[in-house]
Order: sequence, then C-alpha cells, then structure tokens
Amino acid sequence: MTETAHHNQANDPHTHLIGPRVIAIDGPAGAGKSSVSKALASSIDFIRLDTGALYRAIGLGALRASVAPSDGDELSSLLGSLEVRLEGTDIILNGQREIESLRSPEVSRAASDFATLPSVRAKLLELQREIGLSSPCVVDGRDIGTVVFPDAPLKIYLTASADARAERRLAELSGKGVIADFESTRAEIIARDEQDMSREIAPLKRASDAHLVDATELTLDEVVEACERLARAVFNL
Ligand code: DC
Repeated sequence: MTETAHHNQANDPHTHLIGPRVIAIDGPAGAGKSSVSKALASSIDFIRLDTGALYRAIGLGALRASVAPSDGDELSSLLGSLEVRLEGTDIILNGQREIESLRSPEVSRAASDFATLPSVRAKLLELQREIGLSSPCVVDGRDIGTVVFPDAPLKIYLTASADARAERRLAELSGKGVIADFESTRAEIIARDEQDMSREIAPLKRASDAHLVDATELTLDEVVEACERLARAVFNL
C-alpha cells in the first residue's frame, strides 16, 4: 500500500479537531470511492454523502430536458427549476427517486460536462455543506478536501491505475448484466479524469494535506481498513 501523510494527524496526539466532523474522500472515477465511503461510514457510524450523485442528478435532469452545457439561458432556468435533495442516501430529483438512472455512461458523461460550469457548482456547494455539517459524515467526490470542506480533519485521496479502475468498472457492469469492452471502458474513464482534472474551477486534485491511498494492489477490505484506522485515530473513535 502506498500511503503518504503530509500532515499525519493520525499520529499526532496534539491534533485538535477544529472544523466539521467530515472525512473527505476524493479521487478519480472508478477508484472505489463509493464502495469505500459506504463501508467506512457504516463501520464508524457516520452518514455518507455521495457528491457525484448530485452532479449526476443535474446531468440527468439536463439530458431529460435536452439542455446542453452551452445553452446559457435555458441552462439557468433549468438550474432554477431543478429540485435536487437527499432522502437518506437516495437522490430525489424533482420529487422522483433516481437510482439506476443515475449510473448510465451517458449520465456519467453529462455529469462531468455540467460539473465544469460555475453555475452548477454553485448550486451544489451549499447543499453539500449543509448535508455534510448536519451529522458526522464521509463525503466523497472530486473537490471535497480542496473546496467543499478544506478544513476537514481527515482527507483521503483514493486512486488506482487506469487499468485497475477499468477492470473494476467492467466487473461492476457485468454484475448488472451489461457487457462492455475493456478498451472503451478504460478510454471513457481516462477522458472523464482528464476533464475533471483540467477544468478551471474546483478541478480534481490531491489536497496537500490528504493521505494518499493507492488501491491498485489492494482489496476493498484492505482499503477500508486503512481508511478506518485513520478515521479512528483522527476522530478518537
Ligand atoms: O463520482 P462520480 O463518478 O459519480 O461523479 C460523476 C461526475 O461528477 C464526475 O465525473 C465529476 C463530477 N463531480 C465533480 O465535479 N465534483 C464532485 N465533488 C463530484 C463529482
């Protein structure tokens, strides 16, 4: 396991827990953020906020309304009328629970496209902060440790090689009966990372004080264990 700690709060007995009870988990698509966040939150009894699902909800709403990222006025009015909220961990978009509909490749792409826009990020920023501050929370996304909760006491940057991430995505899809091809899945993941890392606002990047966890050679359980150790030390659990 590669795990580097710049500010190793876990080993610092003088760490004072100032700021939100938030664990920020950022990283590229397919690194396992969702599975790790879910398992970690349940093992330490924190709630979990999947911020990617909020961006996916915007992408889905825009696809349904046939609004493109470049449609200035139409996009503003769409954003004004889209109601996105959470019930537990489920996304409610305009009063309707969305689960499988958020996971399609089209919605993944649309989420990444719309996530480049300041108006979209502004709409979701307050919502994320409100939810994250409502209870101790594991929050996963791309800009959680850098923008949404820069003062989170524990930040983790979870990554893995593009091959490992594509393999994982393929396995996930085949579990749902979807047969996809390795090369195109890998290419899709790399294209989305490039867009997420190179956008002007809130790009995906590792916060300077985030612990780096490289999951390429690790099982899910090993990653969760590593994160849980950090969480228990930082939050005195
Ligand atoms: O984590 P995910 O694959 O469900 O996220 C979908 C897209 O949403 C991702 O490609 C970029 C965007 N996103 C973002 O810009 N900021 C976040 N905090 C979370 C997701």
